[in-house]
Amino acid sequence: MHSTAPLAIARALPTRAVVTGAAGFLGSHLCQALLAQGVDVVGVDRRDPETHRTAALNLAAIRHDPRFIFVTGDLRACAIEPLLPGAEVVFHLAGIPGVHPSWGADFDDYVACNISATQRLMHAVTRLRVPRLVVASSSSVYGSANGRPSSETDHPRPASPYAVTKLAEEQLCLAHAARPECDTTVVALRYFTVYGPRQREDMFIQRLLTAATTGQAVTLYGNGKQTRDFTYVDDAIAATIAAGSVRLSHCVINVGGGGGTALHDVIDQAQRLTHRKISLKSENARSGDVAATCADTTTAQGTLGWTPATRLEEGMSAQLNWMASRRSASIARV
Ligand code: NAD
Ligand code: UGA
Repeated sequence: MHSTAPLAIARALPTRAVVTGAAGFLGSHLCQALLAQGVDVVGVDRRDPETHRTAALNLAAIRHDPRFIFVTGDLRACAIEPLLPGAEVVFHLAGIPGVHPSWGADFDDYVACNISATQRLMHAVTRLRVPRLVVASSSSVYGSANGRPSSETDHPRPASPYAVTKLAEEQLCLAHAARPECDTTVVALRYFTVYGPRQREDMFIQRLLTAATTGQAVTLYGNGKQTRDFTYVDDAIAATIAAGSVRLSHCVINVGGGGGTALHDVIDQAQRLTHRKISLKSENARSGDVAATCADTTTAQGTLGWTPATRLEEGMSAQLNWMASRRSASIARV
């Protein structure tokens, strides 16, 4: 299920890396994969696994690994420089994700965590001359794909406040990188709707598979014809590690799963995998929810030697297995 890079692209794994957002969906997978490849990892997150259930679950497999140091800290205010000595790469995944809540009262949090905290991080990273920063950007910066895959040179058309903050975040990192005194290379990865074990509970595939296993209904916003270029988490993480290991200049790179799939087809797939009929509750499409995303991954292939390797059926099946193992573990604890 893992992507493999052609031998032609030389890689040098860092010996030590910092991962922000380490207790999150993508961050926890990244820490785990880096540790498995022999990299020492400092993870930072504002969610404390001692008190936050999702953070504890996400970090369960690595929390006691002696090569993993976890620091509870909020990048809006915490001391960042003490996290960085010896780090060859900072993977900046901390942020507030999710399109819909960004229209409302949470907007200030999006700005503070996705933009202002990134500014603090970039000051620290460039002052300490960390060689590489990889930042988590988003497919949402494109707006809707218009009949062809989105390429990194397309004019961005963010359709939600969230997307505006993600565009600002990646461009802020790149603006720091362009300063003559900056020694840090910045790589912005535009991830396309990532799914798999530990996916966030607000995301569609997780809600759908939960509905299939509990018998509760899932809300479908819009007509179900909207498409997403769903990307399996191991593939996204392989691209992320490559972005921290391959010689590169400042750049933006799409990380997409290999083509758009309509939500209706994802629902069919979930029903086939679970042998259950899923009940749907229809609601109007929500503002900022784009009709289609689809990644042109030519740049990722050329620069990282990366292509997505996991079909949706395979990835959803792995997510289902993980959900089942989580249920068995919680039954065993009772
Ligand atoms: P997540 O919510 O599971 O993880 C984000 C983590 O960042 C959380 O653990 C959160 O506590 C932490 N965080 C937020 N603000 C912080 C702060 N100020 N200081 C310290 N920690 C902070 O989300 P995710 O799905 O893993 O997404 C990770 C990153 O990837 C985000 O930047 C998101 O915008 C981006 N992204 C995700 C997807 C996706 O499909 N999951 C797609 C595109 C981009
Ligand atoms: C996802 C992530 O949530 C964002 O954080 C990320 O930035 C973005 O991918 C990205 O690619 O950049 P999204 O594509 O909206 O955003 O992913 P989901 O939240 O899983 O939603 C997918 C589709 O399902 C959307 O059309 C959404 O409206 C729909 N949906 C979601 C439902 O119909 N019902 C739900 O309960 C949840």
